[in-house]
Amino acid sequence: MVIDRIVPDTTLPLHLFKRQDYDSLRNLFHQLGYTTSDFRQSNIDPYRRSFAEYAVLIQKVRHLKFQGIGFYLFFLGNKVLIKDLAAIIPVSMIKRYIHLSILEETYGNAIQSKVSILPYHNLFFTCDFLFRFDYSEDKLVLYSFKETVYPISHDSINLWESVVKKKYRSVFDLGTGCGFHAIISSLISQKVAAVDINPRAINYSNFNFRLNQAGNIEFKLSNLFESAAGEKYDLIVANPPSIKSILENGDISSLSQKPGINILEKIISSIPDHLSDDGFSHVNCTIHESEQDEFRKSADRWLGQNKKKYKILYLILSESDPYHYSWLISHDLLKADYKIYLQQTENLVKYFQRLKIKKISNGILIMKKSLKAGYSEKKYLPFLPLKTSPEFVVSRYFK
Ligand SMILES: C[S@@+](CC[C@H](N)C(=O)[O-])C[C@H]1O[C@@H](n2cnc3c(N)ncnc32)[C@H](O)[C@@H]1O
Repeated sequence: MVIDRIVPDTTLPLHLFKRQDYDSLRNLFHQLGYTTSDFRQSNIDPYRRSFAEYAVLIQKVRHLKFQGIGFYLFFLGNKVLIKDLAAIIPVSMIKRYIHLSILEETYGNAIQSKVSILPYHNLFFTCDFLFRFDYSEDKLVLYSFKETVYPISHDSINLWESVVKKKYRSVFDLGTGCGFHAIISSLISQKVAAVDINPRAINYSNFNFRLNQAGNIEFKLSNLFESAAGEKYDLIVANPPSIKSILENGDISSLSQKPGINILEKIISSIPDHLSDDGFSHVNCTIHESEQDEFRKSADRWLGQNKKKYKILYLILSESDPYHYSWLISHDLLKADYKIYLQQTENLVKYFQRLKIKKISNGILIMKKSLKAGYSEKKYLPFLPLKTSPEFVVSRYFK
């Protein structure tokens, strides 16, 4: 099988969409049994994507008549025969979705979706596929990670689940992607500002905003906090790219070594300028630990003098050794050539060894202004059936 890595180019023609198009799309998802509860009933995790899982999934949904169609189209990016889709919705509607760039015709009298759509409770989020089969050229296409509109994943969900749910006056969502955190937090806040550096992310976010009939959100194209000069927020959420996307530039550099490319440092060090006095910030981050207290050292360096004003909790979601982590991140670069994949893994392991990095943790750094400044680190491993939720841990710590 031939495999290509390309830059995704779909943009949604928002000016063509009428209100009934959004309504009919939402109805279609319900009709197809394509909601979070349907995923759960079939024991499928919609926020986990890997080649191996997909192979299992194809078998799982094979016998499900309607649900199968939704999974094939919007989750797997596979083709569905026009006649099978036409048995559920009128052909005129299929043509309309093609006109609106949601669906496209493909080889063999079939239809494919141009975008992935993922449910979260009763909301739906349009994003990019990470990979999809191109039937006309008979090859699997991997989308370049940097340009994709990030599909909601476990990190997105965990970040939201760590937020204490109360009424906020204002929210800032940095690196909004498909608009996930902006749209759900708009349900508990008066207004939301959301930014992304990728214009297609802003296009998809605006689409999802309308699809979910959300209110009070402004999506802007912006590099980090650039568009928020002088603004303060009650809640700041950010799920910035981890080292993965830096790697794709060919630059394997430690998050703590090169300030120029350390997006995490830029975000954390800017938070004091943008967080209101009683506000919370939640930032997903990957911290490379050569010593046990690396997290404190990183936060110290990022916050400078401001560290004396904040109570900081680092909620660890997962920990891995450099070998495991290298495998995970090389996994994205996978398949193009197995040798390249192995080489990447080896380079990364050597690189971690050189910096004496023994442990890599992935978690959420939560900050609040407080007279009782200080650090705390807590483990919350979400795949274990724990009784507590990250929100519970956070509310206990900051009460
Ligand atoms: C891991 S994705 C997270 C998307 C979404 N917030 C979520 O959690 O599902 C990171 C997002 O940050 C955006 N991003 C990367 N660098 C940025 C920058 N300098 N300024 C603003 N956004 C940026 C990317 O385009 C991408 O949408």
